[in-house]
Formats: sequence, structure tokens, C-alpha cells
Amino acid sequence: MLNIRVEKTTTPKPLPTADNPLKFGTIFTDHMFVMNYETGKGWHDERIVPYQPLTLDPSAMVFHYGQEMFEGLKAYKAEDGRTLLFRPDKNIERANNTNRRICIPEIPADDFLQAIKAIVKMDEAWIPTKPGTSLYIRPFIIATDPFLGVRPSDTYLFIIILSPVGAYYPEGLNPVKIWIEDEYVRAVRGGVGEAKTGANYVASLKAQVKAHDEGYSQVLWLDGVERKYIEEVGAMNIFFKIDGKIVTPKLNGSILPGVTRDSCIQLCKSWGLPVEERRVSADELFEAAENGKLEECWGSGTAAVISPVGHLRCEDKVFQIADGGIGELSQKLYDTVTGIQLGKIEGPEGWVVTV
Ligand code: COI
Repeated sequence: MLNIRVEKTTTPKPLPTADNPLKFGTIFTDHMFVMNYETGKGWHDERIVPYQPLTLDPSAMVFHYGQEMFEGLKAYKAEDGRTLLFRPDKNIERANNTNRRICIPEIPADDFLQAIKAIVKMDEAWIPTKPGTSLYIRPFIIATDPFLGVRPSDTYLFIIILSPVGAYYPEGLNPVKIWIEDEYVRAVRGGVGEAKTGANYVASLKAQVKAHDEGYSQVLWLDGVERKYIEEVGAMNIFFKIDGKIVTPKLNGSILPGVTRDSCIQLCKSWGLPVEERRVSADELFEAAENGKLEECWGSGTAAVISPVGHLRCEDKVFQIADGGIGELSQKLYDTVTGIQLGKIEGPEGWVVTV
């Protein structure tokens, strides 16, 4: 159990007004949660303090070898005034999987949840209520030893910041255009692809810039070995409806195990739809598209929620899916997932946690 010290800001910022479109990840609340780690002492000095810049030694290990992890989850305001979290246990479990993979000390799950609840409670007034908005929660850990040798750090900072957000993509729920990347790769099995660490995101930038220049929102990655099989979209997992079946790449060590991905799978199964978690090649997709069997495609993620995909491009081939519109199942999943998150629809046991 944490004993959180609280230092309130003396200069609160104005809350965003209702007409603010809340561009993703640009506004931050008044406070942040901070906790230190030191080998021999463990996690300690848990506190909520005014949101502020950090002072770090330029030799801090995070700047040189990227020993850092992050998570992303959201808080919602229900109509009855409750503040709700969506499946925070899954994010905490994944956070500690990431920690183990990159040699960061784990944080006990109860303490992690207590920290999230405490900072969200503190800045509850910042939770936006317009449809499609929420309070994005970004926990992260950085290695802070001032040292230029390569080894795990002995000191860390665990921080949680909060940001009121709208849609991740400027398109909102309108279908996005996705570029299947065949030159660069994001991750390989045995690497850190399934961990939520900055390394995976910096590896994606070059291809993302290329895709943006061509008018595409995001990159769909192929496997790093054969460059044949679909993996994920970097900011979200990917689903296809092919000839009535829901198909999504199987978690193979280089794909992020998304919380929204797992929720889509569970919901589709509960609706009696056949779900296949398996290898799916780009060739299979093109063939399905050519035969009119690629019925829908959508991405799933905390930030992106459910994001319909209207166009897929690989090399010179471009496919339009669901007539470039929002597929029926994508819409149903969006309505159900957001309905559960907002406490309007009853979800499976334990999915919604009250702050
Ligand atoms: C999330 O969906 O929460 C993520 O962390 C993806 C990030 C690229 C915004």
C-alpha cells in the first residue's frame, strides 16, 4: 500500500473549454504522480506534485540506451458522475511484462492501480465529457543513473501524467488509409516488439513519414523475417473480416498484446462470431480483396479505440474496403467498447473499475 504525499498546485491552469477539439496528447492536467526507485531501497517517495518539467543529468541512461517503458489507458466520466477506468489490470500486467523484458524493476500491481486512481481522482475535473473524449493516462518509467556504460540502471523514475483527449486520428471514426510497409521492419521475434517501450516507436518513424508523404495515416507492419505476414499498425492492432470470419494476427512475440485487441476478440466471440488468431499474409489479404471477400478492416487500440480502415496499400496495389466507409461490425464494436467504457452498457465482469 502506497503512502502518497500530495502537493497541490498553487497556479491551477484553466480547464479546456467545451469547444476545444482536444487534439490528442497536447494538453496536460495540473498534477502528476512520481515515485523513485533505487537498488537496495526499492520503489519509494510516492507523491503527487504539480505538473512540471524534470531535471535530469545529461548522462541519465534513458537518454543514451533507451531504457524506458510506458503504458496508455483512459478514464471516463459516466452519466451518473462516476469516474471509470477500462481494464486497468490488463495495462498493469502488460507494464510489468515490459519491465521484466527491459530489466526495469516491477511495480506491485496494487500499488500501480492505487497510483493511477490517486492521480485520476486528483485531476478528475479534467475528464472531458463530450462524445469521443476521455482522459488519457500515460504511466512511464525512465532509467536515471548518470552513467554511460551499458547495463540496467540502478535508479528509476515512475511518473503518471494525464491528458484530456479527443480522437487519436484527425479522421475521428472516419476510415483511415493504411500503408503496408515492405522495406522497413518494426520488430522481430525475440526482440522487444511485444513490450511497450519507446524503441518500437522510434523504429516506426521512418516508414511513418514515408506513408504520411503519400497521404496515408499509418503503417501496417509485416513480420521482420519473411516480410509476408501482417503484424500490427504501431499505434494499434489490426483485424480483418474475411468471408464472415474475424481474423487477427496471432500474438507471436513481436506484436503488442493490446487491451482493446483482447476486448474485440472477447466481444466478437460472445456474439457468436468465428474469431481466428493466426498468421495472415499480405497475399491472403490481396486475394480476399480481389475476390470481394475482404469485408471489413479495423484497428484497435487505447488511443485509437476502434478505427475503421478504408484503404490498404502495398507497393502499387491499393484496395478499398467496405466501400471506403465504416463497416457494420467496426461500428458495433466501437459503440459497444465505448458504451462499456462510459458505463452505459454492462461489459464482462471486471472490465470497468470505479475510481
Ligand atoms: C495507446 O493506444 O495508448 C498507445 O500507447 C499508442 C500510442 C502510439 C498513442
